[in-house]
Amino acid sequence: MKKIIITGGAGFIGSHVVRRFVKNHPEYQIINLDKLTYAGNLANLKDIENEPNYRFVKGDIVDAAFIQNLFDTEQPYAVVHLAAESHVDRSIVNPLEFVMTNIIGTVNLLNAARNTWKGDYTSHRFYHVSTDEVYGTLGETGMFTETTGYDPHSPYSASKAGSDHFVRAYHDTYGMDTVISNCSNNYGSYHFPEKLIPLAINNIKHNKPVPVYGKGENVRDWLWVEDHARAIELIFHKAKAGDTYNIGGHNEWKNIDLINLLCSIMDKKLGRAEGESAKLITFVTDRAGHDLRYAIDSSKLQREVGWTPSVTFEEGLEKTVEWFLANEEWLNDVTSGHYQQYYEEQYDNR
Ligand code: NAD
Ligand code: TYD
Repeated sequence: MKKIIITGGAGFIGSHVVRRFVKNHPEYQIINLDKLTYAGNLANLKDIENEPNYRFVKGDIVDAAFIQNLFDTEQPYAVVHLAAESHVDRSIVNPLEFVMTNIIGTVNLLNAARNTWKGDYTSHRFYHVSTDEVYGTLGETGMFTETTGYDPHSPYSASKAGSDHFVRAYHDTYGMDTVISNCSNNYGSYHFPEKLIPLAINNIKHNKPVPVYGKGENVRDWLWVEDHARAIELIFHKAKAGDTYNIGGHNEWKNIDLINLLCSIMDKKLGRAEGESAKLITFVTDRAGHDLRYAIDSSKLQREVGWTPSVTFEEGLEKTVEWFLANEEWLNDVTSGHYQQYYEEQYDNR
């Protein structure tokens, strides 16, 4: 059976990618390699953890010897790399951690793949999952395409840009079969509640202030996470070596408009009077270096791979609110920190 190492599979997007590959591809053995940082939560994968083609390995991609040993033992057919430090606000506080995980960690994986595959790139693939934030910021108009120049501004986006460059370099220098996709902002189930949408849902539910940075005029292009996971599955199987694809929802929202929409959905779901939740909106100091606008042109993906988003934003956001309200235990476990014991309970005691 072909083994695929999916890194960061216990995180938000990674758990959706792991689930999709495990369910749709019994021909693969999926190895979920994750350090279980604050963002990693094995409860995200409860429904598939006993599937015969799934395995979890706890490990740090920054540990080169550990990674090489894992590749020597498993002899993976391919890597789908999502492990990263992913939160811009955290990167402003601790940039070095982002360099270590996002750049050094990626280079460790590339080296281990190169040492293991020994130049045989006709039957091996390294798929790197990246972000549209590497392109920097847009003004009022325009969209990022695959040929837009890299111009990252935050320590997070700079570290992701660095990792993208290394992946490209391993293709151009060593001939490695690499693929990169750059995606816009995701939302959906299992989203860690320090990011805008799950944070707002949680705060509205508990009648706590909803912090909106600056004037709320920054624009993000939002994509339902399951549509991202489906795009990754399609690109993994269809892309040519060295290809890059942009993934996005053609779904631009100013933060303040998004939060108002969310408040109105929450009013309905919680039986509150219309306008009640919006009273919680609180404008706070802006993020340093806050990119104004992201917008993705994903026409290459639509044309070559046949992918389009499956839900409108209104549908996806409503599903997401319903999921968070129905999965109170998951949310409480994360906000209380209890989720970090799940690994010990499920794996250490086996
Ligand atoms: P996340 O923060 O929810 O999850 C990251 C996962 O990586 C966690 O499970 C964590 O434990 C693991 N991890 C972190 N450091 C590690 C290390 N040193 N070794 C092994 N595992 C480690 O992130 P996410 O939002 O799911 O993002 C996944 C990927 O997608 C990232 O590469 C991110 O840059 C990219 N991306 C995210 C978005 C988004 O909107 N969230 C958009 C585009 C691209
Ligand atoms: P975030 O979810 O952190 O994603 P990213 O910074 O990678 O785009 O933030 C999305 C947008 O929401 C971004 O413009 C910053 C803003 N934001 C707030 O206004 N308030 C918040 O509490 C957070 C976390 C983000």
